[in-house]
Amino acid sequence: MSKDIKDEIKKYYGGLASEVTAGTGEAPCCCCKPQKSQILYDDEYLEDLPEEALKASIGCANPIFLANIQPGETVLDLGSGGGIDVLISAKYAGETGKVYGLDMTDEMLDLANENKQRSGRKNVEFIKGYIEDIPLDNDTVDVVTSNCVINLSEDKSAVLREAYRVIRPGGRVAIADVIELKKVEADLRKNAQLWVGCISGALSIEEYTQKLEDAGFKNVEITVVDSYTKEFLREFAQNKGLSFDLSDEEANELDNAFASAYVKAYK
Ligand SMILES: C[S@@+](CC[C@H](N)C(=O)[O-])C[C@H]1O[C@@H](n2cnc3c(N)ncnc32)[C@H](O)[C@@H]1O
Repeated sequence: MSKDIKDEIKKYYGGLASEVTAGTGEAPCCCCKPQKSQILYDDEYLEDLPEEALKASIGCANPIFLANIQPGETVLDLGSGGGIDVLISAKYAGETGKVYGLDMTDEMLDLANENKQRSGRKNVEFIKGYIEDIPLDNDTVDVVTSNCVINLSEDKSAVLREAYRVIRPGGRVAIADVIELKKVEADLRKNAQLWVGCISGALSIEEYTQKLEDAGFKNVEITVVDSYTKEFLREFAQNKGLSFDLSDEEANELDNAFASAYVKAYK
């Protein structure tokens, strides 16, 4: 990832984390429908979690539902943000398991560590680093999770190669991400990015599958969770005070072009 883009992303997510820490804001759902953690996750996943962890949730679905974590497993969450998915996974991995959260943004790591303290979870460790260069040894993790992060990376192949490297044989990835369902013209894509965020780097199902297979993964399954209709995009733009000044033809081109999706594959 180029230094400029990385710095921009750090600045953006660092600012969000600082607002949640200061109690002056809630992280906006940057790459999903205007819904908060209570809608993305069933109650079962959220009980016992600190309010600040819920407020910092910026995902687009519930990868822990997909991960089916078992007691004793080791889990790694890529781009762990305020720590919501790490803290949920820690409940299922139990005292004999271990959950790592990896993030590059200092403010997010600080917030995640505060949330760890508030939650009382002991089997959790937040580490600083890049998802393109994971600071863990080969074959040490049972499941890699991630929620709305991989689409941000300029080098998704490196991220998936690194995930494959750290997963034990037979282990799995369980990812929630934004994908592209149909090609849209570059300017329109830029508009949609302004309204919803997190879609400029979205891959198609075929591209995602190919990159996973190139990294070595097998039994790839990609399932659409929720596709973004033109009505949703209009509402999202208006909520952000941005204009949705599109012809019918352009609105139809964007209709259901992007979606949140579950991605699962095995080593
Ligand atoms: C959209 S937020 C998602 C946070 C969290 N997964 C959630 O569901 O709330 C993206 C997070 O990924 C981190 N991030 C983005 N690109 C990264 C990279 N290349 N390496 C490490 N962390 C990254 C950001 O700092 C931010 O905390």
